[in-house]
Amino acid sequence: MDKQSVHGMWSSRTAFILAAAGSAVGLGNIWRFPYLTSDNGGGAFVLVYLACIAAVGLPILFAEVLIGRHGRQSPINTLLNLARETGHSKAWAAIGVMGMISAILILSFYSVVAGWTLHYSWLYLQQLFGGAGIEDAGATFGDLLASPGTLLFWHSVFMLLTIGVVALGVEKGLERTVRLLMPTLLILLLVLVGYGISTGYFGQAVAFLFTPDFSKVDGSVLLAALGQAFFSLSLGLAGMMAYGAYLPRNVSIPHAGVAIALTDTGIALLAGLAIFPVLFNFGMSPTGGGPGLIFTTLPMAFADMWGGVFYGLAFFGLLTVAAWTSSISLLEPPTAYLVERTELTRRQSALLGGAVVWLLGLLTLLGFNVWSEVKIGGRDLQGAIEFVASDIMLPLGGLLVSLYAGWVLDKRITHNELPQLNEGLYQAWRWTVRVIAPLLVLYILVNKFSG
Ligand code: TRP
Repeated sequence: MDKQSVHGMWSSRTAFILAAAGSAVGLGNIWRFPYLTSDNGGGAFVLVYLACIAAVGLPILFAEVLIGRHGRQSPINTLLNLARETGHSKAWAAIGVMGMISAILILSFYSVVAGWTLHYSWLYLQQLFGGAGIEDAGATFGDLLASPGTLLFWHSVFMLLTIGVVALGVEKGLERTVRLLMPTLLILLLVLVGYGISTGYFGQAVAFLFTPDFSKVDGSVLLAALGQAFFSLSLGLAGMMAYGAYLPRNVSIPHAGVAIALTDTGIALLAGLAIFPVLFNFGMSPTGGGPGLIFTTLPMAFADMWGGVFYGLAFFGLLTVAAWTSSISLLEPPTAYLVERTELTRRQSALLGGAVVWLLGLLTLLGFNVWSEVKIGGRDLQGAIEFVASDIMLPLGGLLVSLYAGWVLDKRITHNELPQLNEGLYQAWRWTVRVIAPLLVLYILVNKFSG
């Protein structure tokens, strides 16, 4: 018997795929993936990354979505109800609690960075209409980080955009937004790749991304690839579990999951094909970029090239859109939880959740200027929050979801949620979440703590 979601449902399979792909495709694809690729040997990293998506990411994605669909509530309540239904320990709801905390932490700095992309979009827009725009990209970025007022303004604008969508609900808010934004994102990206092709350095970029040099594959490349697979597919904080709760029963989780992973991976590769030709064209090194690659190096290239203002506007517009559809997926689980647990309406819940995130964002924001002296374990405030949330809590969450789906959850439930898999594929999935994925993730965690 199927349960009902009080939050509404995705209207179709496409709506779910767009929303989940919207969650997956974000700053992780367009900023993080290209520089990780360049730092880890290009093609070799890409190949290992693809293997990690297939061997660990995809099976855990199936697990999160199927648990969500079975429970039809916010992750915490889904896990609590499953405990009641099947008699396992309530302690497994810790996955949901930890996930909600990680979602709030990640969104708090994600929103500040998304604010940078809004700021850059605004500067290019002004330049289009004759304003000064970005002349010295290094100074622009430095000035931005040094100015709490500007950072606060754009962080607030971005949080309001996120709260606005989540407040409108699953169909009218989330679904309508991703239906509009995901095609926009793809068009912008294709325009940028088209420009990349026209530079004459496209072949060099392709070679860089797709010629594996296996001598470069070592433990740390593996580690970086696995961590990126997690972050990019939005796994480990039960966010996909929350989206799965609104998934109609007749939609195939394996088919949708594969579509989501292909979209996420395809867009990361396209982002590489848009960025590297521009860098090669201007003789810039693609390595060691970090936050600077996108916010300083790339705008320097834009300043020198014909039509650079359009390119800059399209690029930062694209980043903003990608960040927006990801951030709504981070605010949805806490909002759904508040709706279920309190008397608050969805609007009030989204506003309350968003307010907590906004306040926490002040730590990141002030860490760049007023509190720049504050260091935790050698990291600035943003670095420390990002490390705890994405490098520790996400893999831990993924490990627990994997063990839960493989060992704790009744086999009848998982089998029933994956009827499209034949017996062989089902067994392959089950042993992956039971043994292979947990071991690989454990390997990342041990590496983090001992390294
Ligand atoms: N996947 C997004 C990106 O690549 C970020 C994100 C959204 C995320 N929701 C998440 C990361 C849940 C981990 C967990 O930018």
